[in-house]
Amino acid sequence: MTGPYDTLHRQSLSEPETFWAEAAQAVEWSRGWDSVLSADEHGRWEWFAGAEANTCWNALDRHVRDGRGDQLALIYDSPLTSSLRKLTYREMLDQVARFAGALREQGVEKGDRVLIYMPVIPEAIVAMLACARIGAVHSVVFGGFAAREIATRIIDASPKLIVAASCGIEPGRIIPYMPVVEAAIEIAGGVPKTCIVVQREACKAELKPGRDHDWNDVMATAKPADCVPVAATDPLYILYTSGTTGQPKGIVRPSGGHLVAMAWSMRHIFDTHAGETFWAASDIGWVVGHSYIVYGPLIAGCTTILYEGKPVGTPDAGAFWRVIEDHKVTTMFTAPTAIRAIRREDSEAKHLAQRDISSLRALFLAGERCDPATLAWCEDTLKRPIVDNWWQTETGWPIAANPLGIESFPVKYGSATKPIPGWHVQALDPTGLPVEPGQTGAIVCKLPLPPGAASTLWNAPERYHKAYLDAFPGYYSTGDAGFIDEDGYLHIMTRTDDVINVAGHRLSTGAIEEVIAGHPDIAECAVVGMPDSLKGQAPLGFLVLKAGINRPPAEIVAEIVKRVRDTMGAVVAFKAAIVVSRLPKTRSGKILRGTIVKILTGEPYGMPATIEDPAVLGEIERDLKANGLLSVD
Ligand code: COA
Ligand code: AMP
Repeated sequence: MTGPYDTLHRQSLSEPETFWAEAAQAVEWSRGWDSVLSADEHGRWEWFAGAEANTCWNALDRHVRDGRGDQLALIYDSPLTSSLRKLTYREMLDQVARFAGALREQGVEKGDRVLIYMPVIPEAIVAMLACARIGAVHSVVFGGFAAREIATRIIDASPKLIVAASCGIEPGRIIPYMPVVEAAIEIAGGVPKTCIVVQREACKAELKPGRDHDWNDVMATAKPADCVPVAATDPLYILYTSGTTGQPKGIVRPSGGHLVAMAWSMRHIFDTHAGETFWAASDIGWVVGHSYIVYGPLIAGCTTILYEGKPVGTPDAGAFWRVIEDHKVTTMFTAPTAIRAIRREDSEAKHLAQRDISSLRALFLAGERCDPATLAWCEDTLKRPIVDNWWQTETGWPIAANPLGIESFPVKYGSATKPIPGWHVQALDPTGLPVEPGQTGAIVCKLPLPPGAASTLWNAPERYHKAYLDAFPGYYSTGDAGFIDEDGYLHIMTRTDDVINVAGHRLSTGAIEEVIAGHPDIAECAVVGMPDSLKGQAPLGFLVLKAGINRPPAEIVAEIVKRVRDTMGAVVAFKAAIVVSRLPKTRSGKILRGTIVKILTGEPYGMPATIEDPAVLGEIERDLKANGLLSVD
């Protein structure tokens, strides 16, 4: 029997232009498109070419015009600073228009890049929307990254200005941000020349005269700026994500397609509507924060929650339920790791029993594979639909989910349910042929990708091609492997590259290896993801020392751990490494990371045919056991 999902999914693939033209009616355009779907001069697909719209207009101005001025746009709930701030759509618009004027006064124009390095405070969202208002392209850098990561992004995106805060706040410690910004600017060669800094009470920054401006000062004198029309194919933002090397990939989000995808997904996937309250417990530094803290909920006319706290410890494992009760959250989004943290501390959900979460209709989980035990606990505890949804920074919105706004399917544990309309997902064998249902293959999406998905990388269109399009001509390679079962459910099982997933954060083992290799005592190294009951995976380093180094291994490991943290940032959570005498390699010199992972997880690995010296695997196993990283049987 064919249900509404089948009809929509089929139509989205057979008549994509009709399908997305209809979806685009939810957006207010200042100029209509010449074609819904076309190819640019490089042959890349593009949506709504010729059309113009402003994302900030669609997120704020139109709602104020339509009578939502007094509705809350944003609730900032911060257990870390014991503060609560509420901003209506009118107040938000006022702030954003003024900050947009302030950016202009600092010389930022349409197309210029602005780097935002801020914790989850309302000013961060104001800054993002202000960029959108004047057609500037923001690039938000997650607060847990250190100077070198910011510098890489400055060098690639060449921002005209940085918007920062004086500090971030983590449980038990305050992280001054300006020394990090200072160091990043120095690495990047002294650019950019202008910073606007939000001074937070917890720790004020010393501002550098001539370069740094206090947020309050620029806001006090700024003239509000109007929205400018932006081509649908112009970038709204660049968001860097981990690839397989130390050079992150600058994902470019096309503004018009993104508007359409946000409006469509809020309704059809999240089943959340104007006037309701949406909470993505994430960070604006990640794609989930961009799409579902900032743009999706505001474009849909919802109230969005900005939560500066943790699932546990701020103050306890009942924090999420408290926020749902206090703000009458309708729809919530978080990562499975956050639920694992809560479950570990409060497995009987005693905190939940003290709260009224009757407003909550559904919980969406993404960022990593949702393990069946976590899903089962959520279902038993919350007694509401729990929706595992799968997507990536590149796509900007879910590729697969249980689309509650279309049709609700029975849940299968370990599956993100079905491909969303617009996404033609297949599992292919290495020759590019579809595998049988239930058989594992490379998960790909047939081109063109739907509106909102990135079709290029900033400054690196060839890298986009190489990373995503070359492996299977006509398809976008997701880098994930998995299978589609006989009922059409998609099961994402693992990555096919050297990317690991730590607490829902995507990290490149290659980037960590580059930092380790810079240590003077290291001859070579490998980093793999080891299973972690809280974070899913945790990075583990294998270090081969240079000949003649006789210092205690523990001392070298401690230096390496500090080096990775100082260079890349605390969020990389690199805490464990062991010294080994050599690494398992193929005869051509490729490190057999996959085999190391299998040893770690206790999976049978078979002897790789191309291995240089089989004896090394026994040595690795022995070293892991000696370091307590494998059970001794
Ligand atoms: N600024 C500075 N440092 C930060 C930071 C930020 N914005 N965010 C995290 N860090 C630091 C943490 O303080 C921690 O430092 P530590 O090693 O000194 O303890 C380190 O980076 C790792 O942080 P985190 O991954 O948050 O681990 P945790 O052990 O502090 O907490 C969880 C574990 C599960 C509670 C936490 O990872 C979590 O809430 N995850 C939710 C995941 C999520 O939102 N993912 C986004 C995709 S939906
Ligand atoms: P990011 O770009 O940081 O959002 O990371 C995207 C990657 O995280 C995906 O390619 C997957 O490997 C993984 N991922 C995200 N959500 C899921 C999910 N629901 N199930 C399985 N893997 C997921």
